[in-house]
Amino acid sequence: MKRKKVTVLGSTGSIGRQTLDVLSAFKDDFEVIGLAAGKNAPLLAEQIQEHNPRFVSVKDAFLAQELKSILKNPVIEIFWGDIGLEFISSCSCDIVVNSLVGAIGLKPTISALSHGKRVAFANKETLVIAGSLIKDLLVKNKGEIIPLDSEHVAIHQCLGRDVPVGRLHEKIRRIILTASGGPFRSWTKSQIQNAKKEDALKHPTWVMGQKITVDSATLMNKGLEIIEAMALFDIGVNQIDVFIHPQSIMHSAVEFIDGNIIAQLGATDMKLPIQYSLFYPERKELPFNLFCDLLSVGKLEFEKPDFERFPCLKLAYDVAKKGQSYPIVLNAANEVAVDLFLKEQISFVDIEKIISRTLENHNPITPKSLEEILDIDREIRIRANEFVKSIGTQFIVSIATN
Ligand SMILES: NC(=O)c1ccc[n+]([C@@H]2O[C@H](COP(=O)([O-])OP(=O)(O)OC[C@H]3O[C@@H](n4cnc5c(N)ncnc54)[C@H](OP(=O)(O)O)[C@@H]3O)[C@@H](O)[C@H]2O)c1
Repeated sequence: MKRKKVTVLGSTGSIGRQTLDVLSAFKDDFEVIGLAAGKNAPLLAEQIQEHNPRFVSVKDAFLAQELKSILKNPVIEIFWGDIGLEFISSCSCDIVVNSLVGAIGLKPTISALSHGKRVAFANKETLVIAGSLIKDLLVKNKGEIIPLDSEHVAIHQCLGRDVPVGRLHEKIRRIILTASGGPFRSWTKSQIQNAKKEDALKHPTWVMGQKITVDSATLMNKGLEIIEAMALFDIGVNQIDVFIHPQSIMHSAVEFIDGNIIAQLGATDMKLPIQYSLFYPERKELPFNLFCDLLSVGKLEFEKPDFERFPCLKLAYDVAKKGQSYPIVLNAANEVAVDLFLKEQISFVDIEKIISRTLENHNPITPKSLEEILDIDREIRIRANEFVKSIGTQFIVSIATN
């Protein structure tokens, strides 16, 4: 059987590394043809030695030089920057795994879909900022998107292949997106106001990259996933509910109009959705000891999310309802704010303040092209940073605590 050629964007990250673990376990089915990373040249060099790709890409020319010197006499082609990401997403591969973090994933997604590739999609920020553009590309080209995010893989499985996308809203009552609740699920509002970086990075059930771990602590991750689900399944925000489910065993569910609820359950490990996304529509035996022992889980609990303690989820719901350019603003302001929080320049509650102020000052448009999306994204990043500088971080912390 011919092996499928796979390119992994973000191979040095949490999803990227787990994708390579899955690919290593299925060497008869897949061949790694391309790898892209940001700054972690030493790890990328190790991955190149192990997987022997033909093309690689890194963040910039300086890192490309660093990689060359680690590899000594590389026989592979090394690219860099946006152009490198776009090129390796379009060249001779069958599947592009997009596990980049943030809006940087948009251009390579467009490149892969324009060249008719299957994109196994973890990079939710791209669907948040450019859902309509991506949907148009899917109609015009032969490319396809298979979700890789555990919740969307769950929904994909619950829907099965019987319900045609585009008519889903007629057949389903609602999608139930589950969330672990993050590290602050049982914290009071005043405890959350004093949360530190190390508290936010202690996720109770998942081990992930830093940005998504902070997004899980604010519940913005679930907000982004609402907008991601709207784009993937062509469904309205009024048909999506979020349930807090601390065990993280039920990854999401679909309630149909006839009262039947179909849920997907499984171990809390991203290798399962990664394997599903790579093989879909086939199913292969799991090569890892990750079967879920429901008897030891014992009970499954569900709670309503608390918008007062987790206002970022409310912001995302509002933005999902408003549409237009608001999701681009939500995402860009969130990326800026989370980055500042990770650098310990702002407090945890400042994240929401920065996003809501940036949203309040936005004059919406309906972006029609990639250029318009990227222009708004750029402008909002500048504005969010200017807002932080103009008022000073201590002031922001104080409005949050009043
Ligand atoms: N982690 C999870 O369990 C999980 C679950 C569901 C969905 N997701 C989604 O999957 C995506 C990735 O998450 P993650 O947790 O894997 O993030 P991560 O660990 O931070 O990894 C991000 C990857 O993107 C690369 N990257 C960053 N900037 C880049 C640039 N300018 N050019 C090229 N590469 C760049 C990083 O490279 P360097 O590290 O080399 O700089 C790294 O390989 C996110 O959208 C997240 O929401 C993650």
